[in-house]
Amino acid sequence: MFYDDKFKSAGELSKSSLMELMTAEGGRQQELFQMARTARHEHGLDQITLRGVIEISNHCQKSCDYCAMRCVNKGFNRYRMSSDEILAIAAEIKKANISTVFLQSGQDPNCEPILDEVIPEIKNKLQMGVLLCIGEKSKATYQRYKDLGADSYILKFETSSEDLYQEIAHTPLPRRLDCIRWIKEVGLKLGTGNIVGLPNQSLEILAEDIQLALQLQPDFVSSSPFIPNENTPFEHLPLGDLNLTLNMMALWRILFKNCLIPSVSALEKIQKGGQLMGLMAGANVITINFTPKASRDKYSIYSMDRFVVSLDHALNIIEQAGLQIQQPPAAVAV
Ligand code: 5AD
Repeated sequence: MFYDDKFKSAGELSKSSLMELMTAEGGRQQELFQMARTARHEHGLDQITLRGVIEISNHCQKSCDYCAMRCVNKGFNRYRMSSDEILAIAAEIKKANISTVFLQSGQDPNCEPILDEVIPEIKNKLQMGVLLCIGEKSKATYQRYKDLGADSYILKFETSSEDLYQEIAHTPLPRRLDCIRWIKEVGLKLGTGNIVGLPNQSLEILAEDIQLALQLQPDFVSSSPFIPNENTPFEHLPLGDLNLTLNMMALWRILFKNCLIPSVSALEKIQKGGQLMGLMAGANVITINFTPKASRDKYSIYSMDRFVVSLDHALNIIEQAGLQIQQPPAAVAV
């Protein structure tokens, strides 16, 4: 096979080899996907982990150029859920036989008292895993989440280029990388990753993203294609490239063998069937959206008409991929 030699010493893959792999097309791309599926199979990761996401607040302190929840968007319709609302939805997630509650929000300090209440309830009363994706915090705050019972935390570096990160997020990348390291240091499982298709993002930068992730040693890793979002400075930019994103996902799987890798909803937004392609490129996680419609419509993470993943859709593509879901309570992965 064409790529066999390249992976003999995966840890030492050069930037140019990574760039070549990322741009694989046709038969070579299929070979890459096959290698990713083989890696998933050999590591016993063919059972797909489902997560139920609740988007608890769309307030945000940051002003990232790709996201409509940016704080400078003054006319934006903001919401923050109450503890009771969150706990009622968490119970629905449990009823759907999903064992992980994924709490996501903008970077919103006013969520802190709510998290103090809901994390222990979800962990201890509902006996579910708690995954957070709520932004850059102090090390003490990450420690508090851990002590409250959180299991894992996703903070994507978005891009490994310091200049590009500063330009798109208007805050320093080293500060975000400190946060990522603190998450691990306090004992939370770490999820990280990048966005594919940012302006001025070269293939070389994407290869450096992989090298950065290799240093960070995450438990989950992901790539999502860039989606131009209304009412942002990036609204007129082109969509991220589907094939480049899928190739990155396959590389994550081959190089990060034990990681959980999501097939994100943005893939489906780019192309119908995109999330199934993600599973065929080695992903093993699907996140089902449990945010009630009224709030969901205001949580414009990708775009106003983002693709919202239902349980039916997830079960359908898992079946089409010839895979099965991880059955709780065996699901320890969060
Ligand atoms: N396009 C692609 N990915 C996005 N994210 C947020 N907005 C976009 C967008 N417009 C991703 C970022 C963020 C995660 C929660 O969602 O990687 O960290």
